[in-house]
Amino acid sequence: MKNHNIQPLLRKNYLKAVTAHGVYIYDENGKRYLDGSSGPVACSLGHSHPAMLEPFIRQFGKIQYVYRSQFGSEEAEELAGKLADISPGKHYSHSFFVNSGSEATETALKIAIQYWREKGKTSKVQFISRQKSYHGITMGALGVSGHQLRRQQFEGVLWLGPEKLTRDLEQDPLEEHLAELESIIHHTGSQKIAGLILEPVIGAAGTAMVPPEGYYQAIKQICKKHEILLIGDEVMTGLGRTGSYFGLDHWKTFADIVTVGKSLGAGYAPIAATLMTDEILDPIREGSGLIMSGHTYSGHPLSCAVALQVLTIIEQDKLIEHVREVGDLLMAGLKSSQVHVDFIRTVRGKGLLLGIELDPAIPGMQGRIIDQCFENGLLVYPSVGGKEGKDENGILIAPPYVISKAETEQLLDILDTSIRQVAQTR
Ligand SMILES: Cc1ncc(COP(=O)(O)O)c(C=O)c1O
Repeated sequence: MKNHNIQPLLRKNYLKAVTAHGVYIYDENGKRYLDGSSGPVACSLGHSHPAMLEPFIRQFGKIQYVYRSQFGSEEAEELAGKLADISPGKHYSHSFFVNSGSEATETALKIAIQYWREKGKTSKVQFISRQKSYHGITMGALGVSGHQLRRQQFEGVLWLGPEKLTRDLEQDPLEEHLAELESIIHHTGSQKIAGLILEPVIGAAGTAMVPPEGYYQAIKQICKKHEILLIGDEVMTGLGRTGSYFGLDHWKTFADIVTVGKSLGAGYAPIAATLMTDEILDPIREGSGLIMSGHTYSGHPLSCAVALQVLTIIEQDKLIEHVREVGDLLMAGLKSSQVHVDFIRTVRGKGLLLGIELDPAIPGMQGRIIDQCFENGLLVYPSVGGKEGKDENGILIAPPYVISKAETEQLLDILDTSIRQVAQTR
């Protein structure tokens, strides 16, 4: 039968998922898969969480949609208040809601440009980002992303900014990172740079790469000195994934603008947000008084009610503490798998955002391990790595926050078996 639905690989025959409960997804043949990556690092409460039904039922009888240019809603206001409350020192006190992480990036870039324009600094329109980065698939977000695999079809037509930060976060000393940033700012001219956008822990483009101690504190100082806004892309890291509400919390650093997505809707509703401080919003409020971003479904009350329930469950069930605990268990297990084979270079990450970096000199290992895991009933997520972020040699392990210790052991068992099977047929 002809399939009218377009999926990423046009020549692949995708199996259909039919039901999903907890950390398991079941396909059309009844086969069970442990969701070891929360889909694309999004389904943080697992599937069919019983407490997630409530907002759907409640909103249906109350209000499911209202256009944000015509009305506000209790749901959007409450969610923005909750996001402010969980941000350190209530620092991110305003939220602009969108439907995806890519849109949150677009809004963050626009707000940064608008902020400087409202202050009369109209030449500040460019952005610095990392070579190893992914900020979204829309043209602006892809323009500031370094993910080569996702950019390559559009090279030449993407937004050109100053060059990207290229130093290796694991290998190179802190001083070299700071010198590189200073040098880019110096030859581009700080009067042209609106912001620096970074993922606190690099996900799809860095295999859960974690910067050194003191890194963000020092980067923030440099940004402040040169009047460059720090934009934290917390679409993957935000709302508990790394064992704290925001990834930057680990470095006790505040950004000026922060994006969240993925775990905000946790797979139950498409919602993301661009958060900002009073310092960013005030000049815009007092100036043009208008944020020129947004979409038909921005601030969708049902999505906001769902996101509020997600945050309530994370808090009530103490899931962030649980993420730290099972994250340690998972990390220890991954490290012990590493010793059995010579093609795993390193295991790293924070909380339940963990990455396995494979030796890029042995081609095809990433695909073989992912396929073997799938065959054995485990879902994991591909990421890229290497000096320029071009090597397809990373695997992200990021199960739902609700994974139990027994399910974590099961994940490790299937992964270990799959890696050994690949090693035997190499
Ligand atoms: C760090 C980061 N930013 C932005 C995005 C884009 O989010 P979305 O796919 O919801 O548009 C992603 C998606 O993987 C991401 O990992």
